[in-house]
Amino acid sequence: MIYINQVKNVKPVEGRNIYPYNIPSIANLRELEFRKSVTFIIGENGSGKSTLIEAIAINSGLNPEGGTRNFNFNTQESHSCLFNDLRLVRSAYREKDGFFLRTESFYNVATEIDKVFQLDKYKRDLYYGGSLHECSHGESFLALVKNRFSGKGLYIFDEPESALSINSQLTLLVMMKNLVDKDSQFIIATHSPILMAYPDADIYCVTDQGLQLAAYEKTEQYMLMKYFINNHKKMIADLGLL
Ligand SMILES: Nc1ncnc2c1ncn2[C@@H]1O[C@H](COP(=O)(O)OP(=O)(O)OP(=O)(O)O)[C@@H](O)[C@H]1O
Ligand SMILES: [Mg+2]
Repeated sequence: MIYINQVKNVKPVEGRNIYPYNIPSIANLRELEFRKSVTFIIGENGSGKSTLIEAIAINSGLNPEGGTRNFNFNTQESHSCLFNDLRLVRSAYREKDGFFLRTESFYNVATEIDKVFQLDKYKRDLYYGGSLHECSHGESFLALVKNRFSGKGLYIFDEPESALSINSQLTLLVMMKNLVDKDSQFIIATHSPILMAYPDADIYCVTDQGLQLAAYEKTEQYMLMKYFINNHKKMIADLGLL
């Protein structure tokens, strides 16, 4: 199921030399199509992935710092004004569930969940499997997806791998498949060649020219990781570490 079909940048950004318009990928973004249930946004550090998916999350009605539609906490107003310039083209279907997961503010999301369910811990345990503060970072991430995500959802993740071991990333892939089978759409910014291997996903690479579709095995993340695994001693030596 696809809930967001397209993102359009409706205001010309030429000449605006301030964040976020000074990020080349954002300045050159006109429209972006979402054709598959799972879309990855990849690219170098600082290329504009978080700025873009945060604006998409806000336009979808989700809390900029993470969480659901019903979360309205904000600890630091740091989101960009890009959401004012983007328009989402939506399908006729409306998602029944939604969550914006960003690692940077995951702690605050866990705090908000404890606060919201302060007087009803039974409900919190039912929806979230317990207090996320009582789990490790990776455990809490997987617990949230397992217990809280119910399907028919729009799920937007920013670098989920930063909490997850390689095994846990494989677990997340299986959880994603179960949710896709229950009519969900994922939009994920990532550096992880493991997550990017999700079958039949679209991978957009953020470049200075804009966002370009890439085949999994042609991405730098895949090729560099493969080369490193096969030639780790040589690469470490080339870096002058031996
Ligand atoms: N609040 C802000 N004010 C000014 N510049 C910002 C702000 N947030 C991010 N930037 C700049 O915008 C650019 C894009 O940042 P963004 O966080 O979107 O990158 P990213 O692709 O998500 O990087 P990473 O892979 O490191 O998470 C960076 O050069 C960053 O320094
Ligand atoms: Mg980022």
